[in-house]
Amino acid sequence: MTGNNSAEAFANSSSSDLIIDPAERELFKKRHLGLRLFEPERKRIPLPARSTGDIRALYLRSSSRSFSPARVPLQKLSEVLVSITAHAATQEIKFAYPSAGGSYSVQPYVYVRNSARCAVEGIAEGSYYYNPKEHCLYEIGSDRRLDRNAHALINRPVFDQSSLMICLAIDLSAIEPLYAGESLRMATIEAGMMAQALDLKGRSMGFGVCHIGTIDESAVGGAFLLSARHRLAHTMLLGLQRADGRS
Ligand SMILES: Cc1cc2nc3c(=O)[nH]c(=O)nc-3n(C[C@H](O)[C@H](O)[C@H](O)COP(=O)(O)O)c2cc1C
Repeated sequence: MTGNNSAEAFANSSSSDLIIDPAERELFKKRHLGLRLFEPERKRIPLPARSTGDIRALYLRSSSRSFSPARVPLQKLSEVLVSITAHAATQEIKFAYPSAGGSYSVQPYVYVRNSARCAVEGIAEGSYYYNPKEHCLYEIGSDRRLDRNAHALINRPVFDQSSLMICLAIDLSAIEPLYAGESLRMATIEAGMMAQALDLKGRSMGFGVCHIGTIDESAVGGAFLLSARHRLAHTMLLGLQRADGRS
């Protein structure tokens, strides 16, 4: 899950195979079991080297767990959300990312921080729904505070420094009549695409980004007034990149 090697968030997992010990988890990751191995005599086709650009640039990105205390200009938040906005080119609404059957069941929510340490200019702390068609934030409630304890222990310091938390929540009502039991899988892929678009745009706008795999869903549901038909697909923490380049 994380670069911090904590199994704390999964301690109640039903899997008896869960590796708890941090050192053992590190060793497990170093085995790179995700790389499929074949017998050495199997035919290999080396691919041509990239013709342009420096491939090392691809690896310059990394997760940020520490952010600048600078206030986030509203314009920057707006530009990030443009990556998942929609526009009505014709009769149909057009989005910048695909969705199973054009169902677009994943809703973006933004939790804005506003403290001495982290803030977004012109927006009160609280929870908001991003309407991609109107490109605006609907206030859900400045009284809807998200406690840092909603996050797993290792993620709390990241939340403390972040200015924004973006949550992608699936509204099953918008997809289940189309995909029944496949809905969650389909919508989770859509959420992944949205997360990638937000991540890339965020970095290009000077944000550091940390994806968050574990959070107290009921706390998030309370902050954003989600219904029993919502499922949280993904969470991201963002803050402006530090001036000293550390992440
Ligand atoms: C689905 C998902 C969940 C993640 N959850 C967390 C998390 O809860 N906390 C954290 O610090 N990083 C989290 N990460 C970031 C990974 O730890 C990180 O991408 C990985 O260690 C590789 O490091 P890099 O992004 O710096 O290249 C998550 C990433 C993904 C894709």
